Amino acid sequence: MSKSAPSFESSDLREFGEVLRGRRTINLFLQTPVPAKLVRDAIEVATWAPNHHVTEPWAFYVLGRQTKAICLDLIRDIATAKKDAQAADFKVKSWAEKPGWLVVTCRKSKTAILQQEDLAACSAAVQNLTLYLWRAGVGSKWTTGDITRDSRFLDIVGIDADQEIVVGLICYGYPKVTPDQTRKPVTDVLKELP
Ligand SMILES: Cc1cc2nc3c(=O)[nH]c(=O)nc-3n(C[C@H](O)[C@H](O)[C@H](O)COP(=O)(O)O)c2cc1C
Repeated sequence: MSKSAPSFESSDLREFGEVLRGRRTINLFLQTPVPAKLVRDAIEVATWAPNHHVTEPWAFYVLGRQTKAICLDLIRDIATAKKDAQAADFKVKSWAEKPGWLVVTCRKSKTAILQQEDLAACSAAVQNLTLYLWRAGVGSKWTTGDITRDSRFLDIVGIDADQEIVVGLICYGYPKVTPDQTRKPVTDVLKELP
């Protein structure tokens, strides 16, 4: 006897869709600390992302206050060298107001195909993490700015550049402002083949 397919019009599913749709990149955060247990839970959930050959290529580095302070000095140095002291002040202030800092890396793979797959898996892991946090009321911003490509940053965090690639520095905290966003209608990006 064939079983009927489960309903796709439940309020649970609609709510789930709203979480996926509603997550926004957050720039401005409240200074309320995010519980360490919540962040650890989000990282655990992140590791359930699909990953080809179950390579589990990710690593997560949660930065504490001391490490953040060293990174802020580096951000100042980078911004001063790139622009000027005033621009650096602005940048440091903006980063200092981001409460949580988490670096996600991907293990370097043996072949280009594996590397592509492993990086895709790490992106899925970041999305798991940010959606879990979002559902708990915590916003985040995935960044791949200058600092994430600076060898001094890798040294501060203890990332081995021969073994790992930085996928992103994820800042997180309770949102102060949630910006609007738009997306193209699905008909613009969907091709349904016969
Ligand atoms: C791989 C990746 C790198 C990103 N790097 C940055 C970044 O360096 N700076 C930034 O402001 N946003 C960065 N973002 C966030 C995007 O700008 C953001 O997702 C986009 O504006 C859409 O907004 P939404 O996330 O609210 O939908 C990055 C996102 C991804 C996926």
